[in-house]
Amino acid sequence: MGTLRYFNLQPLMESYGCRTLFETGTGIGDGVRYAAFYAFDAIYTVEIHPDIAATARERFIDDPRVQVLNETSEAALARVLPRIPAERPVLFWLDAHFPGADFGLAGYRDERDPDLRLPLARELDLIARLRGPCRDVILIDDLRIYEDGPYEMGNLPDFAQTLPPDLRNIDFVTRGPWARTHEMQRFREHTGYLVLTPRRP
Ligand SMILES: C[S@@+](CC[C@H](N)C(=O)[O-])C[C@H]1O[C@@H](n2cnc3c(N)ncnc32)[C@H](O)[C@@H]1O
Repeated sequence: MGTLRYFNLQPLMESYGCRTLFETGTGIGDGVRYAAFYAFDAIYTVEIHPDIAATARERFIDDPRVQVLNETSEAALARVLPRIPAERPVLFWLDAHFPGADFGLAGYRDERDPDLRLPLARELDLIARLRGPCRDVILIDDLRIYEDGPYEMGNLPDFAQTLPPDLRNIDFVTRGPWARTHEMQRFREHTGYLVLTPRRP
């Protein structure tokens, strides 16, 4: 599990004008807690597990910028993104995977629907469709789910490996619409990050 703390959000906010943060996978809310130190106008976070979402909602009850949504990441993106004008860039922290498993509430293989268990490819597709060619910034956690590499914390352990070999790659990024509009950078710290930033006009 990586951490949003790896990133200094200030230069990203300033360089790309991001005033909204959208996190998929709330967990216990540590990402939101970190984002809340910055001057975002709005912080959306979505969590599929009702108990985890309820605990996080309680944690941020005093911060009116934070909305904790309890639904699938795809449902939340589909509902919220059309309300954010394209000229207001969003900073995404895409960190939803293995419902409940990181907090011991489920096993890594329990969720049978692959699109709920590892929603990243569909999230990126949805964001591209709803935001069009945009200047959004996308931070993706746990690159090691998709690719082996010299990660600080090693490759994904076997117990969490649920992707068939032909889907263990990031072709959905390198061959998709993001490759046309955004630069891509890999970071090997922790469990690996993938960062998509808009190409200079
Ligand atoms: C690694 S934790 C999130 C940590 C958090 N982003 C942070 O930075 O502190 C992943 C969370 O994603 C949730 N999750 C898994 N699949 C999901 C889905 N399809 N939609 C929404 N949330 C999901 C899990 O239940 C879990 O709480």
